[in-house]
Amino acid sequence: MNQRRLLYAVLCKEKLRLLRIMDIRVTNTSSLEWTGDAIALGFFEGTGELSEELAQLDIKLGGAIAELIEETEFKGKSGSTAVTRVGSTTPIRKVILVGLGKVDTQKVDSYRSAGAAIARIAKRQKCKTLALNLPLGSQVPDQVTQAITEGILLALHQDHRFKSASEDKPAVLTSIDLLGLEGQTAAVEVAYKIVSGVTFARELVAAPANAVTPVTMAEAAQKLAADYGLALEILEQAECEALGMGAFLGVSQASPIPPKFIHLTYKPEGTPRRKLAIIGKGVTFDSGGLNIKGAGSGIETMKTDMGGAGATLGAAKAIAQIKPDVEVHFISAACENMISGTAMRPGDILTASNGKTIEVNNTDAEGRLTLADALVFTEKLEVDAMIDLATLTGACVVALGTSIGGMWSSTDALAAELSQASERSGEKLWRMPLEEKYFDSMKSDIADMKNAGSRGGGAITGAMFLKQFVKETPWAHLDIAGPVWADKENGWNNSGATGFPVRTLVEWVLG
Ligand code: BES
Ligand code: MN
Ligand code: ZN
Repeated sequence: MNQRRLLYAVLCKEKLRLLRIMDIRVTNTSSLEWTGDAIALGFFEGTGELSEELAQLDIKLGGAIAELIEETEFKGKSGSTAVTRVGSTTPIRKVILVGLGKVDTQKVDSYRSAGAAIARIAKRQKCKTLALNLPLGSQVPDQVTQAITEGILLALHQDHRFKSASEDKPAVLTSIDLLGLEGQTAAVEVAYKIVSGVTFARELVAAPANAVTPVTMAEAAQKLAADYGLALEILEQAECEALGMGAFLGVSQASPIPPKFIHLTYKPEGTPRRKLAIIGKGVTFDSGGLNIKGAGSGIETMKTDMGGAGATLGAAKAIAQIKPDVEVHFISAACENMISGTAMRPGDILTASNGKTIEVNNTDAEGRLTLADALVFTEKLEVDAMIDLATLTGACVVALGTSIGGMWSSTDALAAELSQASERSGEKLWRMPLEEKYFDSMKSDIADMKNAGSRGGGAITGAMFLKQFVKETPWAHLDIAGPVWADKENGWNNSGATGFPVRTLVEWVLG
């Protein structure tokens, strides 16, 4: 009933919020000249003395820095922080210390975490103006700048769309200076664009299933297409029927809300260097179907089952703004897995768009059914590589927990590309095997295959099912059931939807 109102909140509040977002700038201003509310100083672990510049700053601030280090026994350990007030009339009123860990084990990721930690402290301290002075070590300035900016923006993103009055006030930060840098303005801009995509994904995933439905997902795609000049094709139910997408439509058939097959395309000017495709599982609610999820099964969190599609649209938003020289297709077969008199029954046989028949031995293994038709559709686009993202199995959460996504790939080259992208993004992926033997448990006496295999290795059998719908195109499958959601604030994630793995996708495409 008030779905439209909720949708309005989902799609339109972003503009208001962006106005509140502060300005992040790189500047070669020295910390000795900078004035403002707080300065954050980064330290490598065990480096001991203050640098020349910081020693001078310390004198200027009446010894506040050295005192804070001593009193809090600050050692620069990764993730450690300390904060103190210097005075109300000093050129800098507060000092924040942040540890970057050992210099020789530095990763660009430490800077993303540091940016997030500093932003959280500055917000708590009600700072309006903030400077960051972090030593670069041997890192590339552009990458560090991008990582810090991402960390700050991601940590400050808050989602109060569904509260009538919010308790947690937005940050009052208006400007942030990244000191000691020069010429990384483009890296800051890229970070803003990427974060706008992550935020978009987070808000789609966090929105409840009575706001984000297959219909509103399609509307979100329409809005992206209009705002950023992407080509959009939406296949309605009848068109999906004509294409023989029986697996996808089987999942959708109990819902009164129609399915939408979404296909957005970003095309660069000139000849593309590569053609890629990203396919997201878009089950806007997964009740389990007639194999209904019971109490204690996490059914109340199944609004997140479109996490793959959310990340796909988030990546589209970022990529459409960054404009790389790569053609990218963004695809999702969006539907709801519900129960009603028209629901698919356990034991029903569905025919997918490649003609393969599937005995549905478990209606809760629905994601793979929707992806089967999406993979067949995508392969016809003749892309150089395609990857699907899916909150596919609870088994993957058991195997890898909530910080790591599972990765399966038909080629080592694509797996390597994704590993490198994930190294840059700090969104962890772990490669898992496509074990042929495990497909045995999905063999059916009556159809070409069953949709659910043995309990053991459940994330692998899920991947093996998908593999049946891919021919030659290099393909990877990411099971993101764990990292799509965070129960509590952690690093650059706040509690709620994380936007995983939008940043990895963008890094992969930019590759
Ligand atoms: N959407 C679920 C997977 C899931 C579980 C995501 C927990 C996030 C958290 C998926 O559709 C599902 O129900 N998978 C089944 C597969 C089984 C029936 C073969 C599962 O994991 O139990
Ligand atoms: Mn399910
Ligand atoms: Zn599901």
